[in-house]
Amino acid sequence: MADANETEKWTDLGPADLLPGEHKSVEAGWRNLALFNLNGTWHAIEDVCTHDGGELSTGSFEGTTITCPRHGAQFDVPTGKALCFPAVTPTAVFPVRVENGRVLVSLD
Ligand code: FES
Repeated sequence: MADANETEKWTDLGPADLLPGEHKSVEAGWRNLALFNLNGTWHAIEDVCTHDGGELSTGSFEGTTITCPRHGAQFDVPTGKALCFPAVTPTAVFPVRVENGRVLVSLD
């Protein structure tokens, strides 16, 4: 049995139902996240473009790069790093794990 602190740290995002190469938007408390399955490795980033608030999860996704649908800024999903203008600031990344078929994210 997990101790109380361990249980509190992780937020359940629901079933691990993304196929490799897929992504979607999910709510986690007051945050909107973009969740990705990169060939079996799961990643979560803030679903907000650091240029002007675009919803990254609605952009195109190829390899490890998500492209903002508003003005074309690109972000590296594993690191959140801004890869090109007009974004220069990274978007937040959050640790993810899959346990018993559920996706868990740490928002700390
Ligand atoms: S809001 Fe994303 S590139 Fe401008």
